[in-house]
Amino acid sequence: MPVIVLVGAQWGDEGKGKATDLLGDRLDYVVKFNGGNNAGHTVVIDGEKYALHLLPSGILSPNVVPVIGNGVVVDLNVLFQEIDGLEARGIDTSRLRISANAHVIASYNRTLDKVTERFLGSRRIGTTGRGIGPTYADKMNRIGIRVQDLFDESILRQKVTAALGFKNQVLSKIYNRTGAKVDDVVRELLSYVDRLRPYVADTALELSEAIDAGKVVLCEAGQATLLDVDHGTYPFVTSSNATSGGACTGSGIPPTRIDRVVAVLKAFTSRVGEGPFPTELHDKWGDYLREVGHEYGTTTGRPRRIGWLDLVIGRYAQRINGVTDFAMTKLDNYDGLDEIPVCVAYEVNGVRHDEMPVNQTDFHHAKPIFETLPGWKQDITGCRKFEDLPREAQDFVEFVEQRIGARISIVGVGPGREAVIERHSVLGGN
Ligand code: GDP
Ligand code: IMO
Ligand code: MG
Repeated sequence: MPVIVLVGAQWGDEGKGKATDLLGDRLDYVVKFNGGNNAGHTVVIDGEKYALHLLPSGILSPNVVPVIGNGVVVDLNVLFQEIDGLEARGIDTSRLRISANAHVIASYNRTLDKVTERFLGSRRIGTTGRGIGPTYADKMNRIGIRVQDLFDESILRQKVTAALGFKNQVLSKIYNRTGAKVDDVVRELLSYVDRLRPYVADTALELSEAIDAGKVVLCEAGQATLLDVDHGTYPFVTSSNATSGGACTGSGIPPTRIDRVVAVLKAFTSRVGEGPFPTELHDKWGDYLREVGHEYGTTTGRPRRIGWLDLVIGRYAQRINGVTDFAMTKLDNYDGLDEIPVCVAYEVNGVRHDEMPVNQTDFHHAKPIFETLPGWKQDITGCRKFEDLPREAQDFVEFVEQRIGARISIVGVGPGREAVIERHSVLGGN
């Protein structure tokens, strides 16, 4: 039975949460393998809206075991707020498993995220301010605090003391801020221990055993390909590997066990935060798509920057992630447009680029080369079969499919769980 990795193809908010939820009743495990509560997934079930940040979207499917993998950074306050919020709405969260090796986001890293952005001024990244970057930096710097450290007070105290020995110097000498106190940090972290204990496990071992037993496992990325710290638009990226390779390191599932890679591709493009964006719209069409698509950040409420669909990015996502199937979302947001421009290549200083320019400066200067496709003046939200779509909408999907190197197996035609066309099974076969 398959292990599937699900990633975002663009700059996030493609509808990964909805895609995971759609597959929910066919899955046994859903593993979040990167990022933390910088993510925001909106899932709509029977008209009810759920906004998830830290918990894997699989938590909404009653038979799925949701797993927070070792590659995730966990804000414990947010974790329990989210668990309490779901429990209050009747969702059972007791199946949740959390890797003992996941890192925790300590209060000083939330502070550092915010003051660093302020310090950068016009060079800021536009982070979510959740402490993600500084926590991953500590992990690489080997001064991070892991979930398992909370179960040994003396180890925890040693680790917090060592981390603050460095971090407080940065806070006070560079940013002119008061440092954090070891006792306060330790006390806050220990306050979660009793609630945390039942969830904590050797998740890599549990997943390996589950795969041996033929269970279906989906590894769900936070963020997306162009926000990946290695393969994205560095430095305007997040601080983890959001591409399919991150699913292995962030969960302990080896590459030899992964069968399929699904990338979620929004029918247009959005971006939150700073950084280059070749097809960005600064006209009425950007405002129009933002409004019909409700393109405001689930995490920070910021209006998302909007642009036309960019197939250079789609092809890049296919190549970097080894995509076997795409899920195209929000096709319905084009309902009523006369025509739809699609970026097929870039022009950089008079030279055509069919692939992502390797050089950051070239990407900043990339001008989109568009092909314009006819739109459809029809509401497609009720379509459930590909053949039900107007001819122009079918042509649009096929035009994109031919240029991104993998089949488009799922087409989203509305926010609800039911508003979807499944052309092929992403779990394998047709
Ligand atoms: P994620 O971070 O990738 O999980 O995506 P978000 O939840 O941040 O943003 C995607 C938004 O699009 C959510 O509000 C979804 O409810 C919505 N959505 C997903 N698929 C579709 C679709 O096919 N059509 C429409 N109209 N909305 C969709
Ligand atoms: P989902 O999972 C869109 C962006 C931030 C910022 C950059 C770095 O919902 O698709 P960070 O706080 O991670 O250090 O910020 O990454 N960003 C996202 N943009 N969707 C997300 O998650 C994002 N998570 C981070 O806006 O530009
Ligand atoms: Mg999101």
